[in-house]
This record gives sequence, C-alpha cells and structure tokens, in this order.
Amino acid sequence: MTQLDVIKDQLREHNHSYYILDDPRVPDAEYDRLMQQLLTIEKANPQWVTADSPSQRVGDKPLESFKQVTHAIPMLSLDNVFNGDDLCDFDRRVRERLNKYLQRPLDQPIAYACEPKLDGIAVSLTYEKGMLVTAATRGDGSRGEDITQNIRTLDSVPLRLIGKNWPETLEVRGEVYMPSVGFEALNTKLVEQGLKTYVNPRNTAAGSLRQLDSRITAQRPLEMCAYSIGLVSEESPLPPQHFDILHQLQVWGFKINAEMRRVLGIEACLDYYQALAVKRSHLAYEIDGIVFKVDELELQKSLGFVARAPRWAIAHKFPAQEEMTRVLKVEFQVGRTGAVTPVARLEPVFVGGVTVSNATLHNMDEIQRLDLHIGDTVIVRRAGDVIPKVVKVVLERRQANAQVVEAPLTCPKCKGPVEREDGETALRCVNGLSCAAQIVQAIKHFVSRKAMDIDGLGEKQVQSLVESGRVKHIADLYALDQTALIAMDRMGEKSANNLLSALQKSKSTSLAKFLFSLGIREVGEATARSLALHFGALDNIKAADIQSLLAVEDVGPIVAQRIFHFFTDNETLAVIDKLQNLGVTWPEFDPVDTEQQNLPFKDICFVITGTLTSVSREELKIQLQELGAKVASSVSKKTDYLVAGDKAGSKLVKALDLKVPVLDESQVQMMMANAQA
Ligand code: IVH
Repeated sequence: MTQLDVIKDQLREHNHSYYILDDPRVPDAEYDRLMQQLLTIEKANPQWVTADSPSQRVGDKPLESFKQVTHAIPMLSLDNVFNGDDLCDFDRRVRERLNKYLQRPLDQPIAYACEPKLDGIAVSLTYEKGMLVTAATRGDGSRGEDITQNIRTLDSVPLRLIGKNWPETLEVRGEVYMPSVGFEALNTKLVEQGLKTYVNPRNTAAGSLRQLDSRITAQRPLEMCAYSIGLVSEESPLPPQHFDILHQLQVWGFKINAEMRRVLGIEACLDYYQALAVKRSHLAYEIDGIVFKVDELELQKSLGFVARAPRWAIAHKFPAQEEMTRVLKVEFQVGRTGAVTPVARLEPVFVGGVTVSNATLHNMDEIQRLDLHIGDTVIVRRAGDVIPKVVKVVLERRQANAQVVEAPLTCPKCKGPVEREDGETALRCVNGLSCAAQIVQAIKHFVSRKAMDIDGLGEKQVQSLVESGRVKHIADLYALDQTALIAMDRMGEKSANNLLSALQKSKSTSLAKFLFSLGIREVGEATARSLALHFGALDNIKAADIQSLLAVEDVGPIVAQRIFHFFTDNETLAVIDKLQNLGVTWPEFDPVDTEQQNLPFKDICFVITGTLTSVSREELKIQLQELGAKVASSVSKKTDYLVAGDKAGSKLVKALDLKVPVLDESQVQMMMANAQA
C-alpha cells in the first residue's frame, strides 16, 4: 500500500465513525491534518486523484435505518485554513478570480459575512407553501437521512413560516447543535444512570438527532441556526446578499446566529476572528472556527465550486479543543480530606491553547468507565478554562503491553491504610493529620483567601515547613518567628516580615471564616456561615449534639455527623485551643437577639452561578449575605432564587427543572436596591 492509500483508508475509517456511527475515534484536529496531507499530495499529483478519494466527497453513506432523501442541490463542505496568512491567500484568490472573470478591480475589498462555525450537524429543511415538509441530514452530501419527525421536536425550527412573501418552495440549511449547558447536564445524567457518555456537544447533537425514536430527540436540548439556503422557487426573489437573506430567514421564523456580522475586506475578517477567539469560551455553545462568506450572491455565482467546497467561502479554524496523546502513567494524589485521586500523566500535548501533561481521572469508577490502561492512546479535551479531561480511550490503538490501573492499597504519601467508605466513590487515606500530604493541603486551605487569608505562603513553602517538621498542624503557623522563616528556601528578611504581619493580621477574623478554615469535611463556606449565624459562639458549636446540628439550615445527617465528630476529637480540640491561645479571635454574638433577625432577605436562599459582569460572584454573595440572605452552593427545592450569569451550567438546568425563579444580574441588583430603599 502506498502512503497515499494509507491516508485515504484512515480518512475513510474516521469518516465512517464520525458521520455514520457518531462515535469519533480521533480528534477533529487529527482528521484535519490527514485531510491536509491528502490535499497536498493530490495537489502536487493531480493524476492520482480518484473518484473515491475522501477529498472528493463530504461525509459518508447514511445509515440504512432512516428513509433516504436526495438533496436537490448537493450539500457541500468548506475548505479550512488554520492561520491568518492562508486566510489572506484565500481573499487574494477570490479577488484575482473576480478580476479575471468580471474585471472587478483587484484592490477593491470584498464584503464578507462572518459567522461562527457552529459545532453540530448540518441539516436541510424544505418548506412547501410555508409548511415544513421534509428535514434531512447532510449524509454524503448528495443523499441524507429523513429526520423530519426529529426536527419537528426542536423549538427553534418553525413548523410553519411566519410573515408573508416566502417562496412557494424554500430550502433552509443550518446547523443543529447542543448548547454547552445541555451537554453537561445530559452527560451528568448519563453518568448517574451508568450509561455511556458523549465525548463532545457535536457528537451529542448528532446522536440526539439521529434517534429512530423522536421522543428521545424531544428530550434533548437541541437548537438550530440557519446559515444558508438551498433550493428556492423563483417567484418571490430573495435579497441579493447572503447576510440580508439570513435576516430575511429570521423574519420568517428562523434562529440566526447573534454574532454574525458583515465586514469589508480581509483585515476586518481577521479582527472578527480575534474578537470571537476571545469570546469563544463565554459563548453558550461550542464553535470550532469562523466561516467567512463572500456576501454578494452574484460574486458567489461567478466564483463557483471546486469538488469539495465553494470557492466563495472558507472556514478559519480555532486551535483544537481535543487532541490525542498517550497515558505515560497514573499517579495517585492525596487531598485535604484524605481523598486519594488518580491523575493521568500524559505525553505533553497542545490542546485548547495550552500544553497539557496532566489530567484528573476523578476516581477508580471513572477509570473503569473509560476502560483506561497505562500506555493507552487517549483523547484529551480542554474547552474554555475547564480542567483538561480524558474523554475517551482510542481502543484500536491499545498495545499488548498496556497495563491495568490498580487501586492503591496504601496512601501514596504516608503509606497508611486506604479505605473506600460505603456509598462513596473516593478512596481515602485514614491517617488524617498524621499524613504529610493532608497536612500540607489542610494548611494550604487554612491560609487561602476565603479562609484565614494569609498572604505569602505558597505550596512550596508549606511543603518545606511541613517536611522540615517546623509545622505539624495549622496552629504551628502562628508560632513561627523570623529566624525560623528566614531559614527557609527563597525566604528573605522582607518576605519573612511580610508573612509575619500577614499572620498577625489574620488573627482577627470572623467565626464563619474560622470554621471554614478548619477544613471540616463537607463544611464549605455556606455551611460555615450557617453554623456561625445559628450558634453565634464556638462554644455552642462544640457543645452541640447531632440533633441541634440538624436544626441548622443546610446541615443534613451526614454533615451533622462530620461536624459532631470533628468537635469531639481531642487532638482537634487541642489545635483549636492552641489557635485561640496564640491570639486568633473573632466577635461572638447571641444569635437570638441580633439585628440579623430583621434583615430584608432573612430566610431567602440564593444560589449564584455563571459569569457575572458587574461584580464577582464572591462580592455578590457577600452583598446578599449582608442583607440577611443565605447563599448556598447547590440548587435544591429550598432555593428561592438562582442568579444566573453568562455561561450558567448545570445549576441553571436544575433550577429550571425545579421551577426555581431565575434572576439575571440586573434583576438581583434591582431587588437589593429595593430592599435597601
Ligand atoms: S456554510 C457551502 N456556515 O461546517 C457552504 N457551515 O465544513 C456550506 N457549519 O457542513 C456550509 N457553521 O455543518 C456554513 N455558519 C456556517 C456553519 C457551517 C457550521 C458546518 C456545516 C458544514 C460544515 C462545513
């Protein structure tokens, strides 16, 4: 087999798993690279181009189980570029061709429609006399699958056109995709049900749309955006520009993308690309590039098509969010509460704009679900600012010497016993604060901003303080003096003094912060605050039995147990005494007769999610709490309002499910202003 045949075969295989099976075996970037290689070879040797080359068609044969639909006008693909120079070359070719065939001045800039390249599945919808009659997938470009029943379930698809003057026959083309929130929520549900998860939103949209049972499609949060037209009867002419046609489609009831712009010249296209690259991670859906289209239909017509794609459009792709790499080893890390978490050490790979060499594997269940072995080739995904994740093992590439991952029997740090508690997925080192890894994490938590807020102690310093034996538990921090600090690596007199004054300053705190900083399992900021508000004084908490702990809002039986145990442990109590003796202090109060009782938001429970623009989530939380509100971290039936910013995720889905009222940023600000008025 020649190298050319190998590439073609690989592309055919990837095409099949991607388009037919909805089960991509390799990341898009790998596919694009192979296609580029094929195109380069074929360009240099046109005599080698065969009719069955993957470069000569789009997608692959549709599955036999749906009725077939022949597209009146083939549904083509787009050529890709990966950098600005190649984009400028595209523009130059366009201008040169128009100059040659239409004598259009070479230096006259082209008007382009700029559109996000939505990462979903292409569909064609045919309307007769304004009624939706057929919907089809792209399939191999000439013939697709009849998915009319499924498409009818999408809210964003008009079943009957609105307005008037639409052509008797109108074929609208566009992308069906799944917004990120829906994708995350669906995968969470699938994990809970022990079912196979989807790799990415594109693959989820395809899988959801190609369900033989359209009732399943109906439950999936799919959307459709129109991006072009196909066959159109001629009696009522459409506008002569692509951009205006899409706005006409919007008038007739279609969703079009809100980011779409019309610009003049390729420089403006480059600016648009840059702007969207920044915006990308804040969009509610995934895009994998920008599509630039010559706006004038007359010019499009004269530019025409090549085998695979139009000459008047191009996709400028973003750096890939999925890449393939190898698992070199799996290590286990110990967290603050003793949870032993597997981490994959990877052959470094550039993905989602950064080099990634580690990815969390969460727990042994996840390793089993992925069927991950050491030495495996895996697909790593990093979308937005999210932590890199291993989403799939490429089983076809597993080598005979791939090793099964064994759960550790002892703690990787202190060699103490590791246990798995009933109903828990995590393995846990039971050595508590005699495990160095847990002490380091406990101290890191103690000094963190939302806890005691002690500046100047990074991971390295904490590690060296613990390993040298100078700090055995959190209270030892307050016993450090200048001599001890200066003896540390990379600690000069100035930083030592800064640290000492930070330690000093942190001693005046609040009961809520102090409780949070102790790192009691399951006691996050919100619970710490509830405890402080409920009991008012530390002694009351120490004396509380399970029953009285259960009376605190937000505290259930498990949390109550954890708190009770924490405060009945003699070693813990000794550390707390020591902290207080060393000067850590906070105002205590009697919760019964404080003003807290009369605050306007008393008994109102908020949850905040997504990216806010005017304040940080943290600031808003404090503002709400100052008005007496409770701010919880998860949505439940007890939640009164969800404040949802940009890119809100599964919390928004849950709130909608539970019919919890959702406020945007300005609405909550308004509510606060009214309450204070
Ligand atoms: S135009 C002849 N516009 O990208 C032009 N395509 O590789 C056909 N896509 O099959 C496509 N967003 O699934 C166009 N704004 C957009 C798009 C878009 C996503 C997809 C579409 C197409 C593929 C081309």
